Amino acid sequence: MPVALVVDDDPNARTLLKELVEAEGFATLTASTVAEAREQLANGPDIVLLDLLLPDGEGLDLLRQGPVRADTQIVVTTGHASLESSIEALRLGATDYLLKPINLAQLRAILSRVARPGELKAEVFELREELRSLGRFGKLVGTSPPMQRLYDEITRVAPTGATVLVTGESGTGKELVAETVHMLSRRHNRPFLSVNCGAISPHLIESELFGHEKGSFTGANRQHQGYFERANGGTLLLDEITEMPLELQVKLLRVLESRTVVRVGSNKLVETDVRLIAATNRNPDEAVKAGKLRRDLLYRLQVFPLQVAPLRERLDDVPALARHFLSELNKRAHVEKAFTPMALERMRRYRWPGNVRELCNVVQRAFIMADGEIISEFSVAQDTQLHQDGQSRYIRIPLGTKLAEVEERLILTTLQECTTREEAAKRLGISIKTLYNRLRSYSSREQLT
Ligand SMILES: Nc1ncnc2c1ncn2[C@@H]1O[C@H](COP(=O)(O)OP(=O)(O)OP(=O)(O)O)[C@@H](O)[C@H]1O
Ligand SMILES: [Mg+2]
Repeated sequence: MPVALVVDDDPNARTLLKELVEAEGFATLTASTVAEAREQLANGPDIVLLDLLLPDGEGLDLLRQGPVRADTQIVVTTGHASLESSIEALRLGATDYLLKPINLAQLRAILSRVARPGELKAEVFELREELRSLGRFGKLVGTSPPMQRLYDEITRVAPTGATVLVTGESGTGKELVAETVHMLSRRHNRPFLSVNCGAISPHLIESELFGHEKGSFTGANRQHQGYFERANGGTLLLDEITEMPLELQVKLLRVLESRTVVRVGSNKLVETDVRLIAATNRNPDEAVKAGKLRRDLLYRLQVFPLQVAPLRERLDDVPALARHFLSELNKRAHVEKAFTPMALERMRRYRWPGNVRELCNVVQRAFIMADGEIISEFSVAQDTQLHQDGQSRYIRIPLGTKLAEVEERLILTTLQECTTREEAAKRLGISIKTLYNRLRSYSSREQLT
């Protein structure tokens, strides 16, 4: 049951609001002063109905002083139709305001967003409309069944504070998904930060995440706020979570449980209010088996898993995605290039091992290569022919390549495809001895350079 805190010094107003709110299915807490309200906030209400004028101060003091959890909605109620203080309230982080006497319909609308966070909020409603008319959900393009399912899941999880684990192959759009979750959450006015755990050196990652005190290690010449502190009130994406050193995963788990961080070189606990999203292009269960990801951390992270399908499982989205990337290039260059239907069809048949990112690159190259306004299938042919149709695989060799290089690439690629050198030699139609000689010549050349 959601919990509302009613703050009002007028006993009649307090009782009336309490009854209205309870009729909407909330448990209620009440307070009549700023001091009492501050005490009640510790109980973590989902929503606070806050009167602005209280005997011991202004209701807004509550927002000015203490940190209020970002998942708590503050709705200001004011009898004095003072626009100024309402605007200040919004600036300070209130989500809405209600003028007294309270309009019941308005109150109900606000309460229903809190009580059923998964239900259509105004933004989600707009996005749904956009999806119907333009074929995209925020920044995410595509209307295929796997994407529709994903939008539903995003809509459900975004307004809650739940930790999300986004999985999917490289280039499928995991980062965009994380951004969309943030955009549809109550934290959307606060920062969205993203850290790539694989890109930071292991001995710096702890101070990058949690911050450090001056002098805590060589080179730490001033206090540094980590990502957790900078993302406070907002969302932090931990990308490539399986690349995080294991001993740091233990610390991360502690942060998730205690909602506090400790800077490197300090033993002071700093409170954080950060919604965590983790992403990985590995299979998380296999990463646990391989010892790259702690099981207890995975358990904590995947409160709500979101899986992004590879592009080959939603090929019907390819034309819309291709047009989307092309229209961005058109806008930048002030031109009006367009794909022929054959070009789009050709792209729709390719298997896209690099997923949406590869598609974006192919469109970019085709855009450059096309002479006029028309981008035909020939402009995308080169990039979309290396395909895997079950048995036969291809390598792409541009005209003008030296014969010796062609031979080398064919030999090395075949080797990668085979489990033994004998098998490779057989497929290449050469003796095992010839294969060894070639490999030796390649490796001796490498040693020379
Ligand atoms: N559905 C989509 N609509 C529009 N653009 C997309 C979509 N999916 C991905 N993109 C674009 O494709 C590129 C790759 O997406 P993103 O960086 O989110 O992939 P990723 O899954 O995080 O990849 P990696 O695992 O390599 O980090 C980005 O430029 C992103 O904007
Ligand atoms: Mg990414």
